[in-house]
Amino acid sequence: MLKPDTLPIDVARVLDSDTRVANIPVYRASTVLFASLDEAVQKAQAVARGDKGASTYATASTPTTAALMDALEQIEGAGHATRACLAPSGLSAIATLLMALLKPGDDLLVIDSVYGPTRNFCQSVLAQWGVSTRFYRPDASAEALEAMLLPNTRLIYLESPASYTFEIQDVPAIAAMAKKRGVLTVIDNAWASPMMANPFDWGVDASVLPLTKYWSGHSDVLMGASVVREALWPALWKTQRDFGVCVGGDDAYLVLRGLRTAAVRMRQHEQSALSVARWLEQRPGVARVIHPALDAHPQHALFKRDFKGSSGLFGFVLDRSFWSLGASANGPEDPQTARLLAAMCEGRRHFGMGYSWGGYESLIMPARLSALRSVEPWCEGPLLRVHMGLEDPQDLIEDLEAGFQAMARIA
Ligand SMILES: Cc1ncc(COP(=O)(O)O)c(C=O)c1O
Repeated sequence: MLKPDTLPIDVARVLDSDTRVANIPVYRASTVLFASLDEAVQKAQAVARGDKGASTYATASTPTTAALMDALEQIEGAGHATRACLAPSGLSAIATLLMALLKPGDDLLVIDSVYGPTRNFCQSVLAQWGVSTRFYRPDASAEALEAMLLPNTRLIYLESPASYTFEIQDVPAIAAMAKKRGVLTVIDNAWASPMMANPFDWGVDASVLPLTKYWSGHSDVLMGASVVREALWPALWKTQRDFGVCVGGDDAYLVLRGLRTAAVRMRQHEQSALSVARWLEQRPGVARVIHPALDAHPQHALFKRDFKGSSGLFGFVLDRSFWSLGASANGPEDPQTARLLAAMCEGRRHFGMGYSWGGYESLIMPARLSALRSVEPWCEGPLLRVHMGLEDPQDLIEDLEAGFQAMARIA
């Protein structure tokens, strides 16, 4: 098998035999023409079988989208028999996959620190459709989850590290238990991406990847993918086709373009995040830095066992000295705390305020956890989520230091 750094360069390089241009061309398409009516029938059968090379309409595939699906199967599914589907955003990939694998009457277990819009999808669309969702503690062991299973529990949804609070799950143990009990496991592999984690090696049945993040890497494209073991693919492919979930050639090209440099970018995100996280650990005013690669992380041992490395996204919690500035533990909901957080985040030179992450630029946002947790309320101090881009980490440290000083000034 190829080394992880070589794989993103090597995959999906079907060269046009005439031009020999290095990259896959962009195919913009809706209609696909047939040479004969017989060919239309043959191709329809090939599409139904899932032959990526065959297309009857661009919702099925074009050479550009097929190349990206191929890349996903070889990288996210490395060493396993998997199939990939594309969706116009990470959230849309998650929604389509859950619709494909669940049916009315099913019970679904979801990690409490799941990405907020996934929680919303379960509580709105899936609930209306007759699927019940129960949330579980982010640190739940395989045994604890097994005790929660009901006769109609169909799927356990994992996210490791989880959104905002970055808990690491014992995915191999949970996947093994679920398999024994006939329950499916799906993981959101956004944070690590296949550059830093291979969840199919841990035994999951499916993974979702927001390609918006590290694969594309430039904050200029939205896309998601679901990668599933072969046995689940017919159900996923049918749902994709029933809903008309597909992506355009330009966007698929941008993601393939980003993929070529993803491994080196990830290493820089990792190094910068570790430098800034270690600085924050020493900075007065910070109660806790939540980064799975730090020794102090509660599940650091699991992280070291299962992950190849870390990414650029982590959090830090402001400490009691912050209270002396008039803040409270309620986070951005409390007016004085909101003012202090605004002083920290607004006017930074390098850290933009905005959602998403995984691009070349650094970002900072306070977390509003009150709406995002139902099993156990958040009772530590205000939490900030930061993404380290590709700037020099020293510049990022100076920018955050300016934020701490701005907070001190407005007390
Ligand atoms: C953990 C996680 N999963 C999924 C998504 C959804 O990705 P997209 O923004 O492409 O819809 C996000 C987006 O921020 C995310 O943080």
